[in-house]
Amino acid sequence: MVEPLRRSERPEREEWIKQANYNLFNLKSDQVFVDLLTDSGTGAMSDRQWSELMLGDESYAGASSYYKLKNAIQEITGFPYFLPTHQGRAAENVLFSALIKKGDLIPGNAHFDTTKGHIEFRHATAVDCTIDEAYDTTLDHPFKGNLSLQKLEKVFKENPVERIPMVIITVTCNTSGGQPVSMQNIREVSQLARQYGVKVIFDAARFAENAYFIKTREKEYRDKPIRDIVLEMFSYGDGMTMSSKKDAIVNMGGFIGLRDQELFRQASTFNIMFEGFITYGGMSGRDMNALAQGLYEGTEFDYLQTRVGQVAYLGSLLHDAGVPVQFPFGGHAIFVDATRFLPHVPREQYVAQTLAVEIYKEGGVRAVEIGTILADRDPETRANRYPNLELVRLAIPRRTYTNNHMQYVAAAIINVWERRDQIRTGYRITYEAPIMRHFTVALEKI
Ligand SMILES: Cc1ncc(COP(=O)(O)O)c(C=O)c1O
Repeated sequence: MVEPLRRSERPEREEWIKQANYNLFNLKSDQVFVDLLTDSGTGAMSDRQWSELMLGDESYAGASSYYKLKNAIQEITGFPYFLPTHQGRAAENVLFSALIKKGDLIPGNAHFDTTKGHIEFRHATAVDCTIDEAYDTTLDHPFKGNLSLQKLEKVFKENPVERIPMVIITVTCNTSGGQPVSMQNIREVSQLARQYGVKVIFDAARFAENAYFIKTREKEYRDKPIRDIVLEMFSYGDGMTMSSKKDAIVNMGGFIGLRDQELFRQASTFNIMFEGFITYGGMSGRDMNALAQGLYEGTEFDYLQTRVGQVAYLGSLLHDAGVPVQFPFGGHAIFVDATRFLPHVPREQYVAQTLAVEIYKEGGVRAVEIGTILADRDPETRANRYPNLELVRLAIPRRTYTNNHMQYVAAAIINVWERRDQIRTGYRITYEAPIMRHFTVALEKI
């Protein structure tokens, strides 16, 4: 599918972003030239996926589309039980309703915002156990998504295990820069968790990109097919939540994969309450078909090599021009280090948001803040939480843009880089929601 893009002039963009209260989520899509807000649901479906839509079975219960998806999930992930949901956060809502109680602790590697939101909404705490190396953007470490076993064991030792229903491994780790988790780390985390009787759940939105990095960066896996690597990764877990809008290359959808029948039964009740009957759960039959096909396409080596290669191409254009980016490059996005880019803008004035707005004004390129606004307030003290990194994420949709678009994006960002010394003030918040404020926040220029 081909869509027209609309080019705009800088004065138009300055007016539009002001009307949007300097929140990039509030822009209309035709006010954006190259949209790198997210790689979620923005990929282009293939000819085969479009054909699958025509074969959708829309029966309420027991549709053939459900069984097609069930078989694909079983074949790719190895999980015998699955529940369809309308997207990733819905999978979190259903599974966490069955697993998390008030006062619980959920360790993991830099939990994604919706994951953390669903944990905190239940008055539980997400404990970040990511390795410290992840927070130095200049350091070349092949697996910056890894969990620190020391940090994890400390959580296990210092708390009653009944309060730790699971550890969440996010593959790849979006919040720390689309960074992968090694097979060795997955194996060791799983062994440690088993020792303490704690479940391992994958936040698996970008599991295939993670497998690609294992194949290309972890010596023992060089000659293994991606699908074998994926099966081994999931063999170390008790379950997974999936936002199918990423590595399964569909515009909408999600699911839960589980190993244990009893947990599946518990989660099924919540699925019926929140999503729909267990054989469709918020998805139409045709969308389940396209998703099943997307799971096969998303785990092909050649596709992954091209996809991750395009991300690295943009990363190299920026890196070679001196723009500070998270290194090595991530799987789905390039993350610009905003504190190193704009050292004169105080963090209290939302430096990553300031940079994202500048990039939009410069070239109509929409990125997203992964910094203090996203990190939200502490649920107890209500003080701003300042994360380890202030990042601007340039997420690249799958099979959508050409490398020519990447050159354009790089040129726009390099223009901002060249006038960075003139950018000295940021923004203040004029409205924010009590949780997950970044989606609807309103800002004004200081
Ligand atoms: C790592 C991760 N987990 C969960 C989600 C939530 O998925 P969804 O947007 O489909 O609700 C996302 C979405 O961006 C994500 O990146």
